[in-house]
Amino acid sequence: MSSDRPARPTWALHTPLTTEQVNLRLVALEAAGLLGVVEVDGRATVHLPVRADVGLPGRWEEVRPRDWNAQWKAGIAPVTVGAVTIVPPWLAAPDTGPGSVVLRIEPAQAFGTGHHETTTGCMAALQEIALRGRTVLDVGTGTGVLALTAAKLGAGRVVAVDVDPLAVVAARANAQANGVRVDVRPGSADAVEGRFDVVVANLDTATLSRLAPVLEAMSAPAGSLSASGVATARRGDAEVALRDAGMAVRARAGREWTVLLARVAG
Ligand SMILES: C[S@@+](CC[C@H](N)C(=O)[O-])C[C@H]1O[C@@H](n2cnc3c(N)ncnc32)[C@H](O)[C@@H]1O
Repeated sequence: MSSDRPARPTWALHTPLTTEQVNLRLVALEAAGLLGVVEVDGRATVHLPVRADVGLPGRWEEVRPRDWNAQWKAGIAPVTVGAVTIVPPWLAAPDTGPGSVVLRIEPAQAFGTGHHETTTGCMAALQEIALRGRTVLDVGTGTGVLALTAAKLGAGRVVAVDVDPLAVVAARANAQANGVRVDVRPGSADAVEGRFDVVVANLDTATLSRLAPVLEAMSAPAGSLSASGVATARRGDAEVALRDAGMAVRARAGREWTVLLARVAG
């Protein structure tokens, strides 16, 4: 996925000969830049970068390279969760109607294109919370998708953290590209001071369980935490950790992943 430009075509010479017979012309083949020989049912096909006279009988075929980048891009469709549609930068924005928002997220930089159930679960949970003017902390922001969702939906101060420096770069770029203000910081929840009305954390079960007391401490009284990245099969561990940290927890199980909706005491 390094370039949008397809590679050059190569040539295949389909011979009626075996590899052993073809190898008798090895000097000429190597002089022509031999790429390889593939034998099927006793017939060898010789692959060369150019069509050349190598002294072998057979039928020439131009082999057009596959543009893997274009194929990959063609497979990435917009994702809509409630009022939010995530669109890759190379596609035109769909007409989403009044009250809905479009997020431009560049895939392949970090986790968080909207194509994973853990992300969509948190996006849906965020839209059930009154966000306008509220403070939001996104722990494990990846591309920034959840922080950007909150900011687009009218949240006040939005802070996002990630331990992966590449995610921090990606989230900052995505915030700028979408014209929203998100304070993206390297590190984890302890890179942030203060308490937040809404905390969102799409992490893995073990990290979430470990961070449960920190997430509770970062949440304002009566604040809400939406946590994902919890495999449904292991949701009990994370639920117990959040309850032990003093939160009331409801679980919303998806196909493979569960979103935990926690409320901090008022
Ligand atoms: C599953 S991705 C979620 C990305 C995005 N928030 C989403 O919902 O699609 C988890 C992210 O958390 C980050 N992460 C892992 N452990 C972390 C920790 N202890 N503190 C902060 N970020 C962490 C990873 O680098 C990764 O970018």
